[in-house]
Amino acid sequence: MKYNFNEHIDRYGTCCAKWDMAEAYFGKKDLLPMWVADTDLRCPDEVIEALKERINHPIFGYSRPDDEVYEVIIQRMKNLYNWDIKKEWILFNAGIISGCHIAVRALTNLGDQVVIQTPVYYPFKKVILANGCTALENGLVRRNNRYYMNLEQLADMFKQTTGFGGNIPRIKATILCNPHNPVGRVWTKEELLEYGDICLKNDAVIITDDIHSDLLLNGNKHVMLPSLSKELEQKSITFIAPSKTFNVAGLKASVAIIPNDQLRMQFAFIQEAGYGTPNVLGMTSLKAAYMYGDQYIKDLNAHLENNLEYFTNYINKNIPELTVIEPEGTYLVWVDMARLGMNPQELAEFMINDVKVATDFGYVFGPGGETFQRFNLGCTLDTVKECLRRLDNAVSQWRQKK
Ligand SMILES: Cc1ncc(COP(=O)(O)O)c(C=O)c1O
Repeated sequence: MKYNFNEHIDRYGTCCAKWDMAEAYFGKKDLLPMWVADTDLRCPDEVIEALKERINHPIFGYSRPDDEVYEVIIQRMKNLYNWDIKKEWILFNAGIISGCHIAVRALTNLGDQVVIQTPVYYPFKKVILANGCTALENGLVRRNNRYYMNLEQLADMFKQTTGFGGNIPRIKATILCNPHNPVGRVWTKEELLEYGDICLKNDAVIITDDIHSDLLLNGNKHVMLPSLSKELEQKSITFIAPSKTFNVAGLKASVAIIPNDQLRMQFAFIQEAGYGTPNVLGMTSLKAAYMYGDQYIKDLNAHLENNLEYFTNYINKNIPELTVIEPEGTYLVWVDMARLGMNPQELAEFMINDVKVATDFGYVFGPGGETFQRFNLGCTLDTVKECLRRLDNAVSQWRQKK
């Protein structure tokens, strides 16, 4: 291990959403922040060095990717996923949610429908609604504490009629989250093929958000959906970014890969109408992270596995009221607290006032999330232990009051 991810780094006073904003957001002092999907872990040394070098140049004008940036992305797709992509398929955005806005705007007209699979990263729904469309929620199915896509229901959604007796197809796109935030599934090749097949048959574009694709736990392997067939390649928009893995989300740089010429043109047309491109430091960090970050990813995933094992074992042994849904990817853990018998509001208040840990409340991820909390284990093991101490105390007191 080159990196020691158990070093505590004080993030207060760095304009940091997770730590500096917690009090204002939750209305309570001294919460332990386990919300917001970034990590408390230092960036790779090579990223910091590249940023310092760039900062030494005294001008920060508009940025554009150089050839090395394209090359490092092309190589990455080839090496990790055996996916051959071309330079002209690659576009750059100031973040994936910004990219999703562009995609939905480019693919839909007012009143069209876009499918998401709930519970899911909640900005997807906001993006759909903000662009005048309807979000169709194809709820995931939970079996033995593992989640699956409801592919039968997805197929049925395409059969529904809209308007008075008219069967006007209004589902223009589906958004896939792979690995899935918050339930932590890394979708298998078979699942992706089946999902993709339904979308292809119904002429819906697949927007696939693979932002967490480097964060793979316990031997799980990531498959890029468009690498599975030429048809899927032509009908998809894939987003990747270094932001989650290398903890550079604040630098705002992400990548859209769009093999189909027509789709890419539609996307670029909207992007050029005012959506941002990455900032120059984002571009610098992306290049360094993708060039030199392999060891970092190995060490990070080993650290996350260790945190997860500790967290899960502790809860299973000491807090049997809670059920940990073990993630296959991401540093996010979806925990079912249904046995505490609280409604979503009561559960949120319990987390803030009794547990004193800031989490992402499950209900905001949509139907199916009401009894859950999402914990972020992208932190030191000491923070995980402190979180468990607080959780254990609060649940013990709840037991006594029962
Ligand atoms: C699945 C997913 N997509 C996108 C984002 C946000 O990406 P960005 O900051 O690049 O907009 C997040 C952050 O939590 C995420 O979990």
